[in-house]
Order: sequence, then structure tokens, then C-alpha cells
Amino acid sequence: MQFIIAIISYFVGSIPFSYLIPKFVSKIDIRQVGSGNTGTTNVVRTLGLKVGVLAFVGDFFKGLLPTLIGYLLLGHTGGLIGGTFAVLGHCYPLWLKFKGGKGIATSAGVLVILTPHIFLILLVLQFIIIFATRYMSLASITSAVLLPVLCMLFSVPTEIIIFSAGLGAFVIYRHRSNLMRLIRGEEKKLTIGSKK
Ligand code: G3P
Repeated sequence: MQFIIAIISYFVGSIPFSYLIPKFVSKIDIRQVGSGNTGTTNVVRTLGLKVGVLAFVGDFFKGLLPTLIGYLLLGHTGGLIGGTFAVLGHCYPLWLKFKGGKGIATSAGVLVILTPHIFLILLVLQFIIIFATRYMSLASITSAVLLPVLCMLFSVPTEIIIFSAGLGAFVIYRHRSNLMRLIRGEEKKLTIGSKK
């Protein structure tokens, strides 16, 4: 059962909404514009807020649903397997030669099921950082750092603390080029695009 949850979750996570929606709406290959990342931020900066929200919803639910189904079938263990493989599918999708996004929207869907209170705290924090700095990547990296810290503070089950530390480290790794640009002062602020 664990293997089946992992495989199905990987394939669900592999559905590249942030690639498919811009292709469908504007025939744009999101990998060829902006940062080249197949994620919400790049869709927003290229095609605007509405298309970005659509991409986010797709990437969010492909994290939420496998985690929920895994959780219903096998409790915490199933949820953790579903969430892990959904995020891996998003970041390394079979359909895009294993070059996917950085995992934020899909991880958000996972956290809604595993630790909803911590998801809410990080969501508020993300909005504060985005409005204050307009650095989307700074908001993402800060959330990744704080995720395991908050999990420990709220005394969630140990296996979720371990998962959150792994997820946080993985998300920071996926943002390594953003991190270097932030340190060098070269990171681009979030702009809202309107290319049709
Ligand atoms: O989560 C993605 C965001 O933090 C950065 O996206 O397109 O600026 O690399 P991007």
C-alpha cells in the first residue's frame, strides 16, 4: 500500500499545472520566460495574477489531495508518503524531463493536511514578507527555515518534525540560485505581468 501511495502521489505531483496553464491560456512556454521556473511566481510575473492564481490552485491541490488520501488510508505515515512524493513529482516531473518547480505551492497543500495551524502562520508570514519586500523567494526561504522550528514549538508528532526539517532543507536547496542572488543583491522583485 505504501508503494502504491508513493507512485500515485508522484504522478499526481508530476502534473505541471504551472506549465500547462500558461501554455493553454497564452501558448507561452513558462520555462522560456522570466526566471524560467515552472511555478506560481513566474506565472504571475509573466501572465498576471489571475493566471498565476490558477496555476497556484493546481499546484496546491496536487499536494493536498495525495497527502489527504495517504492520511485517510494510513494515518500520518500515509500522509507523509503522499506529501513527500507529490512534492518530488512537482520538482522532478516525468513529463518535463524532471525539471519542475521549487515546491512551494505543492508543499503548502501538503502542510494544510499535516499541520494546518503552521500552514496558516506561514501563510500570514509569507504575505507580510512579500508586501514588505516584494521578494517572493525571500518569503519562500524564510518559510522553509521556520517550518521545522514552528513544528518543534507546537510539539507536532516527531515524524512530522523530521519531515518538516527535510522539506525545509529541500526547499532551500531548490531556491539556491535565488538565495545567491538575494545575497548579491541581484534578486528580482515580484512584478505582476500582463503578457497575453
Ligand atoms: O517559490 C518560487 C519563488 O520563491 C521563486 O520563484 O521564479 O523567482 O525563481 P522564481
